[in-house]
Amino acid sequence: MKDIKSRIKALKDSKNALILAHNYQAIEIQDLADYRGDSLQLAVLSARLDNPLIVFCGVRFMAETAAILNPKSKILLPVQDAGCPMADMITGEQLRTFKQTHPGSTVVCYVNSTVEVKAESDICCTSSNAVKVIQSVPIGHTVLFVPDRNLGSWAAKQTGRKVITWDGYCPVHQWGFSSEDIIRMRAQYPHYQLLAHPECDPEIVDQADEVMSTGGMMNYVKAHDKVIIATETGLTEYMQHIYPEKSIVTLSPKAVCADMKKTRLEDVLAALEHEQYEIQVPQEIARKAKISIDRMLELS
Ligand code: 13P
Ligand code: SF4
Repeated sequence: MKDIKSRIKALKDSKNALILAHNYQAIEIQDLADYRGDSLQLAVLSARLDNPLIVFCGVRFMAETAAILNPKSKILLPVQDAGCPMADMITGEQLRTFKQTHPGSTVVCYVNSTVEVKAESDICCTSSNAVKVIQSVPIGHTVLFVPDRNLGSWAAKQTGRKVITWDGYCPVHQWGFSSEDIIRMRAQYPHYQLLAHPECDPEIVDQADEVMSTGGMMNYVKAHDKVIIATETGLTEYMQHIYPEKSIVTLSPKAVCADMKKTRLEDVLAALEHEQYEIQVPQEIARKAKISIDRMLELS
């Protein structure tokens, strides 16, 4: 293990590469990353970097967003099939039909979407800025929100805007938590704050003390103790790792994203050695998708 880590470090230095890791990645991957964060933090960062090589430890849509925002760097996804099931719940073709049935609407796409869907959308958002993005749509306009019905309906409630959601969801957040988990954990951990990701079912979100992105949760635990976390387990595990003195528990150990867990140290080493797997987004789609991502970044 030590050998792999030193080989990664040596290659990183010789190639002037950087490693970015999403908050759900395994502890050893996050530990070795130069930067960790949520989708928005990593997207903002990617746009600013000028390293020739960036290894993106996360899932495909995140690496694609980095490639769109930073065409000068070579963006590598260490595991070729690390995807996001929610992103695949709507295609560009389905979005075109959805738009035709609601003419004059504004399309907001969650960043957890394909490049084709981003290219068909007016503005992109992440879990940390969905409310701000919807508020930026002129009052009176209907918002079509794709693909996440849970984030879309939570943001609609916060803004009071008319939002029609696509019927997509994250299987991890949708099926990973139940009200029974909340009853059990609140009884076991009284006086703890329950933080939920807005991808969770409304039944969970409505019972949470705070609703926020993974980056928001990271910031929250910097200043607080005694929290129950309702999001993918990688975040809780990393928080426990860096704050061993704090009381941080997961609402349910079932909430594991198999795609986020595919990346191992061996894959990061192979990515650096063979410069694989390069993310290449066709130029015209990248140009259109960038418009919706840039609109989001202007608001963030
Ligand atoms: P964050 O932007 O909050 O990190 O969420 C990304 C994600 O995929 C949640 O499942
Ligand atoms: Fe996609 Fe859910 Fe995994 Fe996030 S946790 S990457 S939304 S499947």
